[in-house]
Amino acid sequence: MPNRAVETKVLQRDGTSKVTRPPTKPEPNDWFWMGAAFAGSFALALLAVTIHGVNFKSLILALRLTGRWSFLPFWLAYAGGAMATLFGRTFVPLANRRRQFGLAYAAALSGHLGLIAIFYLRASHLPLSGKLLFFFLTAACWTYVLTLFSFGGLAAKLGAANWRALRFVGMNYILYAFWSDFGPATFHPGTSDTLVHTLAYTPFALMALAAPLLAVGAFVVRRWRTSRTGHAPSADTLATDRSEARAS
Ligand code: HEM
Repeated sequence: MPNRAVETKVLQRDGTSKVTRPPTKPEPNDWFWMGAAFAGSFALALLAVTIHGVNFKSLILALRLTGRWSFLPFWLAYAGGAMATLFGRTFVPLANRRRQFGLAYAAALSGHLGLIAIFYLRASHLPLSGKLLFFFLTAACWTYVLTLFSFGGLAAKLGAANWRALRFVGMNYILYAFWSDFGPATFHPGTSDTLVHTLAYTPFALMALAAPLLAVGAFVVRRWRTSRTGHAPSADTLATDRSEARAS
């Protein structure tokens, strides 16, 4: 019997949707997304070295850049499905690639963690300590737990409800980790309230705020649709219905 825990509906070009199951190991397409995201982190680290030279200043800049870089695919993995549900067919490609965005985020974050390893090798201590270190290490662990489970086999063993719960807790914990970087710096900027500081934090903080709001909005719309039709449509189906309704 198929385990619906790991099945997702993917919209076809002709507007119909088909059920797919995530692979049990990375496919060429997955490697492409992960490779591109990791290469992006690497390029940003090189950019930081080009700007500041080989020193701790460039390491911190590289951490700041790769932190933001990894947030972008994370955000799309978190909110892509909600965008398709709420705003229609244009966003369906985002919904269909949620898994790849998640993998890309994990790869980009690996670049971030690689820089932390370099920091440790050069300074003989980690750049964070105490509760903050524990908090961010936990977020990093969630990243790799979710990555492992995004391959069919493990999620199937876990079961539908448990996999959903795991994803919910993990994704929101990671979102909160991003928020704790961007939010306070945006809303309590302190002395460094310059234009550069605002540009470096505010858009990311707003994105971090918008993500759960979109998710809640999509949840409400899906509930409403379910109560009308008696069955739960996928994000993709909702998007198709909406665009068809608009076209007719
Ligand atoms: C999922 C886990 C993680 C996420 C989501 C994350 C996210 C971020 C983000 C968004 C930034 C940019 C912050 C800014 O510009 O103010 C950043 C910077 C940084 N991260 Fe991470 N990070 C994670 C894990 C870690 C870990 C485990 C460590 C240390 C052991 C760490 C150490 C740093 C440091 C030192 C910076 C530079 C902070 C500064 O601006 O001085 N991060 N991280």
